[in-house]
Amino acid sequence: MKTMFRSDLLAGRVALITGGGTGICRGIALAFAAHGCDLAIVSRTVEHLEPTAADLRALGVRAFAYAADVRNPVAVNEAVAAAVAGLGRLDILVNGAAGNFICRAEDLSPNGFGTVVDIDLKGTFNASKAALPYLRRQGGSVLNISATLPYLGTVGQVHASAAKAGVDSLTRTLACEWGPYGIRVNGIAPGPVEGTEGVRRLTSEASRAGALKGPLGRLAVVEDVANAALYLSSEAASFVNGVTLVVDGGLWLRSASIPGD
Ligand code: COA
Repeated sequence: MKTMFRSDLLAGRVALITGGGTGICRGIALAFAAHGCDLAIVSRTVEHLEPTAADLRALGVRAFAYAADVRNPVAVNEAVAAAVAGLGRLDILVNGAAGNFICRAEDLSPNGFGTVVDIDLKGTFNASKAALPYLRRQGGSVLNISATLPYLGTVGQVHASAAKAGVDSLTRTLACEWGPYGIRVNGIAPGPVEGTEGVRRLTSEASRAGALKGPLGRLAVVEDVANAALYLSSEAASFVNGVTLVVDGGLWLRSASIPGD
């Protein structure tokens, strides 16, 4: 990875990343490892995680994989406790586990709506709550992976938009409640990120080649989001708290353009 930061930016730190086995959060995990951070990655199935854990170890850091569904507070507590037992401390939590699909509200079942809220919003709460006692020991950072979906009326995304709006609210409230403990709470709202499961599920090839290229003329790559995550999780952002940083190249602003413009 081409780095913009000092290679010891996160040396001596330990991060736990939910959803860290794949996609954006795998990229964040690799970027953290390349900057000296030890890692615990968590998701529903260990098989999803092990290849990434091996890649992280190959970068010279300690890395462990733990299976837990973020919807299950008991399992999340156990995974966080096991990570701290294995790695000795916890400085950074990245809440990245998420689920999504395209479905208009009129076709969406209550359980479909609830499932995405359970993963994205309640999962973020569950993992943050589980991490709090350990983050409090020396201070740290929570980073919530959000989305730009709720800024507009994103058709077919009532479930994820509502969940991510809730995540942004959680970011602001926890920033105020946990700031006094030396814990900063921030978010990143990426747009579509090339090569991820989200982009495969939620966008068409035609839209990726056209409308989804924003003002900067391309989709985001994982490194764009990983660089923002490095900044927000490091001392460089020591006075940044309660912010959700949009990393979409300006795409969502363009959504209001005159059609065809
Ligand atoms: N359209 C409409 N409803 C859907 C759906 C779709 N594409 N996919 C799932 N649902 C509904 C199901 O019908 C079910 O509701 P029901 O009981 O009323 O029928 C509910 O959502 C739960 O589905 P289930 O498959 O049991 O949930 P799960 O816990 O196994 O999976 C999801 C969670 C639905 C979010 C699944 O898409 C997933 O696991 N995604 C993980 C990866 C991912 O989404 N990555 C992209 C992130 S941007």
